[in-house]
Amino acid sequence: MAEKSKILVLGGTGYIGKFIVQASAKAGHPTFALIRESTVSHPEKSKLIESFKTSGVTLLYGDLADHESLVKAIKQVDVVISTLGGAQIHDQVKLIAAIKEAGNIKRFLPSEFGIDIDRQQNVTAPPRDKVVILGDGNVKGIYVTEEDIGTYTIKAVVDPRTLNKTLYFRPPANIVTFNELVSLWENKIKSTLEKIYIPEDQLLKLIQESPFPTNLILALGHSTLVKGDCTNFEIDSSFGVEVTELYPEDKYTSVNNYLNAFV
Ligand SMILES: NC(=O)c1ccc[n+]([C@@H]2O[C@H](COP(=O)([O-])OP(=O)(O)OC[C@H]3O[C@@H](n4cnc5c(N)ncnc54)[C@H](OP(=O)(O)O)[C@@H]3O)[C@@H](O)[C@H]2O)c1
Repeated sequence: MAEKSKILVLGGTGYIGKFIVQASAKAGHPTFALIRESTVSHPEKSKLIESFKTSGVTLLYGDLADHESLVKAIKQVDVVISTLGGAQIHDQVKLIAAIKEAGNIKRFLPSEFGIDIDRQQNVTAPPRDKVVILGDGNVKGIYVTEEDIGTYTIKAVVDPRTLNKTLYFRPPANIVTFNELVSLWENKIKSTLEKIYIPEDQLLKLIQESPFPTNLILALGHSTLVKGDCTNFEIDSSFGVEVTELYPEDKYTSVNNYLNAFV
């Protein structure tokens, strides 16, 4: 039987975190989620928390601001994964202090889940009439489902090859330009979309003029879709490992298959 670790997730009720909690439980690791007590009665998150319980996840109550609650939770596990949101990234020093005090943690994965181009929240399907394209649409991006991020994060946790490394996800079939993505979709729906291109200078002006969080979303789009920051460098093997090279036998969700669900 594959090695099992006791895994604690902080931020499990967040956008990325829920996929990590679910993947950990699915892989059969004893899974713990540190939940804020106030979130249990949250109208939407309460359903998610119930689904954690159904999957056998142990709920621990605590808060990043409550040192004792962190140490108590950490002492029960082998691995800590943080999926805390952008606003809490700096405060992870509190988590590190608690990990040091507890003294039993074999691995800690900080909340550094990259700038991958993920599906837009609240958007249920790709467009059928028109599409906005940042830049000229010819820059390659990397498209990964959140479920795959969850699955491979959990695989990495018990893999000695990933220790102290950055884990990159570069599935060859999912490294495509935005124009290629649009054309793939057009072929599936047998229709041509109206294309609205936003040139880089116009995009930069929009970023400067837009309020938060629109400016942040546009800036991420500029980085990934115009500058190509996910693909414009080689992985340095002393610091990084690539998922599909580590697990060549695995099947990840391809862009092609992902789009089929919406046809
Ligand atoms: N969202 C995206 O589209 C996206 C895309 C790529 C990468 N990422 C990266 O993924 C990581 C997670 O981001 P996210 O967007 O998934 O975060 P998120 O949705 O904002 O979730 C934040 C999580 O942190 C928890 N939290 C906040 N304050 C806390 C506290 N004081 N004590 C304990 N827990 C607390 C929240 O709990 P409550 O439920 O109680 O509020 C929630 O579970 C980040 O590294 C981000 O850069 C995100």
